[in-house]
Amino acid sequence: MPSRTRRIGRGDRLRVAVLMGGPSSEHEVSLSGGLKVVEALDPTRFEVRPVVIARDGGWFVPPRGQVARGVPSFDPHRLDGWKRIRGTLPAILALAEWPVDVVVPILHGRFGEDGTLQACMAAAGIAFVGSGSAASAIAMDKVHTKEILAYHGFATPPFEELATEEIHRGLGDRAEDLVAEHGAPLVLKDPLGGSSLEVRIADDAREVAVAIEELVPPATRLMVEAYVPGRELTSAVIHDRERGEPIALPIVEIRPRKARSFDYHEKYATDGAEELCPAPIPEAVEQEARRIGLAVHEVLGLEGLSRTDLILDEQGVLQVLEVNTLPGMTEQSLVPRAAREIGMSFPALVENLIRTA
Ligand SMILES: Nc1ncnc2c1ncn2[C@@H]1O[C@H](COP(=O)(O)OP(=O)(O)O)[C@@H](O)[C@H]1O
Ligand SMILES: [Mg+2]
Repeated sequence: MPSRTRRIGRGDRLRVAVLMGGPSSEHEVSLSGGLKVVEALDPTRFEVRPVVIARDGGWFVPPRGQVARGVPSFDPHRLDGWKRIRGTLPAILALAEWPVDVVVPILHGRFGEDGTLQACMAAAGIAFVGSGSAASAIAMDKVHTKEILAYHGFATPPFEELATEEIHRGLGDRAEDLVAEHGAPLVLKDPLGGSSLEVRIADDAREVAVAIEELVPPATRLMVEAYVPGRELTSAVIHDRERGEPIALPIVEIRPRKARSFDYHEKYATDGAEELCPAPIPEAVEQEARRIGLAVHEVLGLEGLSRTDLILDEQGVLQVLEVNTLPGMTEQSLVPRAAREIGMSFPALVENLIRTA
């Protein structure tokens, strides 16, 4: 129940705020995605206001003149003359007062993707792209996500969450037990991490200890997961406005070039992972991976878009690794890549997300 909606006439430009940056480890990735989204919006149809959220949580909005002129071209690292709004709530209220029609959060990880921001926007009556607060919070947490998916019968690698005392006192002999139970290598993850920065692959008990040392802090919780060898696929879902329901996009296969996993370098560097779309997989696997992406989207109550990361294991089973509710949005990112495969350009994808919201 938006409280400040305005009537939008035929010739009116839709007022859109694109949020980027934020306090998470994915700050830089978010800035590149946000910039691309701003550039993709047709200024004759959208009145775009970019909003850069600094690492310390300050919100920066461009001077009014710059917004009125149309395409705001800017360098998110040089915000001279931009207005700083202290604190999330005043900033969101300022957007509501404008009044904004739709907020596009190109934010990943903590704050932007974990439901915090979504709850604030819902309270202010602002429409936004993507999932609501509760679904975002669940999908952000790899442990909760896997518990729910396992309950609903999805295959996901065996895992357990470590107790807080264990994390702080050190695992001691437990490290050996974990390796014995789940096999080596073991995957250690911050359940709230993203962009592979908070994932470690450990070959033995000693490496498990090193991984914990590296991850905590900032992690306050840790999960241990069995390493599943296989091929990495990702299943993107977007809302189809004509059909009025979510649809799965073509599957993308990710082949890391050097690293053993799809790590930060493989994700974002120019010599990073190879991304194949259409994925060179049998049609039955393609259809099954799409079905899983859609089913995960539905079971978790996600909206607008999502991307489910999968491993096709050596037995041919598709195992769910994790779900992203605000996946990367640079033109090279996986969801735009998959959309292109059905003839949907990057600007068309962005417009689809905005109109769906
Ligand atoms: N259980 C696992 N078995 C094999 N590889 C894994 C496993 N978990 C994670 N990985 C590798 O680490 C990458 C990042 O893990 P993921 O769970 O997707 O976290 P995030 O992308 O949020 O950092 C995956 O894309 C994959 O390459
Ligand atoms: Mg992932």
